Amino acid sequence: MVFELKNIYKDYLQGKEAVPVLKDISLEVSEGEYVAIMGPSGSGKSTLMNIIGCLDKQTKGSFVFDGCDIMQAKDRKLSEIRNKKIGFVFQNFNLLPRQSALENVELPLLYAGVGKRERRQRAKAALEKVGLAQRMMFKPTQLSGGQKQRVAIARAIVNNPKLLLADEPTGALDTKSGDQVMELFKELNDDGVTIVMITHEPDIARCAKRIMYIRDGELHGEKAGEQE
Ligand SMILES: Nc1ncnc2c1ncn2[C@@H]1O[C@H](COP(=O)(O)OP(=O)(O)O)[C@@H](O)[C@H]1O
Ligand SMILES: [Mg+2]
Repeated sequence: MVFELKNIYKDYLQGKEAVPVLKDISLEVSEGEYVAIMGPSGSGKSTLMNIIGCLDKQTKGSFVFDGCDIMQAKDRKLSEIRNKKIGFVFQNFNLLPRQSALENVELPLLYAGVGKRERRQRAKAALEKVGLAQRMMFKPTQLSGGQKQRVAIARAIVNNPKLLLADEPTGALDTKSGDQVMELFKELNDDGVTIVMITHEPDIARCAKRIMYIRDGELHGEKAGEQE
């Protein structure tokens, strides 16, 4: 088991009023799975991703990640989980603009206290894995969108995380670069990496092995989505 969400609710406070955004969401993800979570804009996808990514806590319900009860976990524990057990991929890459591809990929290892030699070696291997061996010293401004996202993916996998968590990973890419990112995800999943990917594009969701649908903060399995 990688994580289990059980009867999760999330409210945002608007003034004094609680606005419900996630409603009674339950989801279990096991090792080796590749799950897409689809839904229209405003349906709660990023809110859900922030909870799964231990960036935010649910209002109600239980969330266990890799055996750890996240609601009870202290900030220190949460940042350790984020650093060591989750690889994040965002729509807009979130790379440091003045650092090389190699330095960007080394960053999670730096935070994890890995020594310089090993950092370099593992970051290089991750960049080779995503097909960017020839671009290690390039800065983000010198890379295409697709290449930037592949650097972000190298950074996400460099720590061998329990989960690769991606929020609209192809949202800022042209079709061809998006397809390359999806090919890479498939390769990683074939190698055993567990992936949860959030998207509003049906073609992208179909790359996953399981599709869930979120609508007005409620999560449904494949059947409910097919009726859309
Ligand atoms: N920090 C916040 N405070 C208040 N409301 C929020 C906040 N973040 C998101 N929302 C609201 O929650 C709903 C879901 O947002 P979000 O999870 O970003 O949706 P999606 O990623 O599917 O587009 C939206 O109605 C949004 O306005
Ligand atoms: Mg979003």
